[in-house]
Amino acid sequence: MKRWRWAALLLALGAPGQAQVDSELPVSGDAARGRLVFGACRACHSLRADAALGNGPHLHRIFGRAAGKQVDFEHYSAGFKDAQFVWTPRLMYAWLANPMAFFPATTMLSPGVPDPQRRADLIAYLKQASVRDKEPDR
Ligand code: HEC
Repeated sequence: MKRWRWAALLLALGAPGQAQVDSELPVSGDAARGRLVFGACRACHSLRADAALGNGPHLHRIFGRAAGKQVDFEHYSAGFKDAQFVWTPRLMYAWLANPMAFFPATTMLSPGVPDPQRRADLIAYLKQASVRDKEPDR
């Protein structure tokens, strides 16, 4: 029943049936600006794998990880638990435009990042910061 919702995310990218979609984002991002955009996410998300869990799953090495499957995070919504896709920059760009559109019953209380440039900046930052082993400078 809930399958179509995350499938809609893949369809929005014009790649039905492909679990891993990637290509350049439509807008090029700036990681330094993106660090500031991530400020709105830090309340709930850490970029470190060993950080105490906050209100959301940690985002360490999030690109390439299966969505909704972090073992020690217990508050995924059904939509995320059922999801069968791997996070890529392109998918995250599409989803963060309006997170509720793809997962209406999500437990993530965030409006996402509606502005395309700010979204691209955030993703440029995450690409760098999510693969570091230490917490990036704030
Ligand atoms: C109020 C807390 C909160 C804020 C703010 C928030 N998130 Fe989340 N996030 C969550 C929760 C809770 C989930 C799990 C959602 C679900 O299962 O429906 C989640 C899920 C995610 C996931 C999926 C992780 C996975 O394991 O598949 C990503 C990626 C993510 N958030 C990124 C962000 C980004 C980027 C921002 C900032 C624009 C942000 N979040 C803001 C709480 C938050």
